[in-house]
Amino acid sequence: MGEVRALWFEEGALRLLDQRLLPGELKVLTLRSVEPVAEAIRTLTVRGAPSIGVAAAYGMVLAQRSDHLEPDRAAELLRSTRPTAYDLFVGVDRVLHAWKAGEDTLRAATEYKDKVVEECRSIGEHGAKLFEPGARVLTHCNAGALATVEWGTALAPIRVAHREGRKIFVWVDETRPLLQGSRLTAWELKEEGIPHAVIVDNAAGHFMARGEVDAVIVGADRITRSGDFANKIGTYEKAVLAHENDIPFYVAAPWTTFDPKTISGADIPIEERGGPEVTSFHGVRSAPAESSARNPAFDVTPARYVRGFVTPSGVVPPEQISSLMDRLARGVGK
Ligand code: MRU
Repeated sequence: MGEVRALWFEEGALRLLDQRLLPGELKVLTLRSVEPVAEAIRTLTVRGAPSIGVAAAYGMVLAQRSDHLEPDRAAELLRSTRPTAYDLFVGVDRVLHAWKAGEDTLRAATEYKDKVVEECRSIGEHGAKLFEPGARVLTHCNAGALATVEWGTALAPIRVAHREGRKIFVWVDETRPLLQGSRLTAWELKEEGIPHAVIVDNAAGHFMARGEVDAVIVGADRITRSGDFANKIGTYEKAVLAHENDIPFYVAAPWTTFDPKTISGADIPIEERGGPEVTSFHGVRSAPAESSARNPAFDVTPARYVRGFVTPSGVVPPEQISSLMDRLARGVGK
């Protein structure tokens, strides 16, 4: 089992680590109704595609049991929180289906959560084989246990390789503007004793060009049929830099991130967040008061930059993603 747990359901409530406060403060919030769950997703109190999906699944349980909402209304409320991560929609739909069928929603949400955790563990096993002993691996944002309930996607292979004694070193992009890398990924790596260094986002190309990066691995918020995918803003340029420097670039994700209805990256809805996240640093205004800002939370990386997708059933090249999705839809290999 992974060391960190981002959220769990206990005594009729959803409990989650407040990720806005990490690493300074370890605070567990107790949410007893659906609106606070929606608010926690909107504010990145809980974040990372698979964790958002699980939180939303439990949000549906609370909507039924505590708020006595209509199922479609509850689903709409949760779906409207953030547009990009596909897992959110899968988590909501899974419990919505159980609710409408008169089944136990808590059981449906818990089975969903258990499956996500098991898939991430499996991603760790497959992905660890990609790294030579002593590999220096760069990652962007936080795709660790915080983002997936346990284990992580991009961090799961690193965790497994480290536990096998393979002396992995991690370059951690700080990930402006909300610092998911320097606050959250660095914290998870520190907790597990995995050697790492935090770098500003703009330093990745410098270390790649000097031959100090052996591989890049990131998570994803939505993977399309073409293999184009969305992830935290800045991922695209890391992929281009990796290509330029002949460094393998991997994307790790559970099945809940694979969107069979979206053909290419241009069709992915990209969340744009408020300007103050960019014009301020730690709550203090850093840009002139007159300056406006743009703040896309995600970007799209074309499939041609991806060496392989690390899935729960192995490493898959981008050209096989579409047929893999068809097999999944038929229930093969799940
Ligand atoms: O805005 P965030 O922090 O929710 O963005 C998270 C990411 O971009 C992660 O890389 C992605 O969700 C994959 S998490 C396994």
